Amino acid sequence: MTHHLTTRAVRIGQFPDMSDAYCEPIGMTSAYVFASAADAASKFSGAKKGNVYSRFSNPTVRSFEKRIASMQGAEDGVAFSSGMAAIVGIAHAWLSAGKNLVVSRDVFGTTLTAFCNYFRKLGADVRVVNLTCLNEWRAAINENTAFVFLESPSNSLQNVGDIAAIAQIAHALGALVVVDNTLLTPIHQNPLEHGADLVVHSAGKYIDGQGRCVAGVVVGSECLMHELRGVLRALGSTLGAMDAWLLHKSLELLELRVNAISQKTLQLAHWIRTQPEVGRVFYTGLNDHDQHALICRQQTGYGGVLSFEVGCSRESAWAMIDSLQLISIATNIGDTRSMITHPASTTHGKLSPDERLFVGITDRLVRLSVGLENEADLMSDIHLGLTSISSMHAEREGESVAT
Ligand SMILES: Cc1ncc(COP(=O)(O)O)c(C=O)c1O
Repeated sequence: MTHHLTTRAVRIGQFPDMSDAYCEPIGMTSAYVFASAADAASKFSGAKKGNVYSRFSNPTVRSFEKRIASMQGAEDGVAFSSGMAAIVGIAHAWLSAGKNLVVSRDVFGTTLTAFCNYFRKLGADVRVVNLTCLNEWRAAINENTAFVFLESPSNSLQNVGDIAAIAQIAHALGALVVVDNTLLTPIHQNPLEHGADLVVHSAGKYIDGQGRCVAGVVVGSECLMHELRGVLRALGSTLGAMDAWLLHKSLELLELRVNAISQKTLQLAHWIRTQPEVGRVFYTGLNDHDQHALICRQQTGYGGVLSFEVGCSRESAWAMIDSLQLISIATNIGDTRSMITHPASTTHGKLSPDERLFVGITDRLVRLSVGLENEADLMSDIHLGLTSISSMHAEREGESVAT
């Protein structure tokens, strides 16, 4: 009998050995004992299943991998020490001489840096396209494409990539489709159902949900995961048992957390857009989002990341951020505590002003990662921030009248 995602989130991946403890034990061990030399040989060769060495096999890490894979209806998963280790692991697994990769422009900045700076240096042909323009994907993907990589919705501007349409183009030419699902989690989007082959998460975001660890995980078919585990074995970017245990337990409350966060974010988005000093608001939950029909087909929720423009300059955005008393100034996302950042001077600070304008990151933009605080308290705090901009403008006008 197949259980619902919520049931799988708390039941899959339990391992009973070590003791009869109700809560899964933490496998804090690097090595394992073999029954005999023959037992060791058969486990090392892969002929017999069993743990060999914790760089690539650990019972607690395995529990986490099985649980997250099951929650997405995937056959298997491979955990890594960070989201970037997982992404770089994918590139190592499938890129080879003469192959190219096609990536959407508005993925997480370091993903683009890894592909464009480091894999290009190794000779890879990296093609960067506009997430929402299928013609650009069509023109870039060819029979030499190893994989395509996208993040949807994008962070900070909440553009949405049509996973099914991109997968159709990629699969016709034999390329794999990789989707970074960090923002929406398995609860609000399952890219595998839309044709993706691999789904990657920066697991220290919503999956942990409390900012306690850095981790990454990839899910997909057993055959693809077998190849990826080979890369993990060689690269050694291993997730530790303690972090795996935190993540394994965190999955049990993931649905409750992200549903609550998504509801609060939608409420805030509606309220924020009615406020003075606020310009455009970017959130896939808003019915007038340009890609509403696609969002309804592809997402089952909207997540907790919301961006909006304030005032008329960088100074107004900074004044707003600096006036907040509750929301933390931090560049992370996916925490129980709300966080705000100014993308133009942090996450996108390395881009030139022209490049930022090209990708749509204006100086007035702020990005909010909504947590679990009471929504009225969050509104009061944001109101405080927006009032500081109005006061700043009033002071300026006063000064110019006086002079
Ligand atoms: C969407 C997304 N993907 C990947 C990463 C990289 O993950 P990590 O920081 O775990 O290496 C991040 C990090 O912020 C992210 O936001």
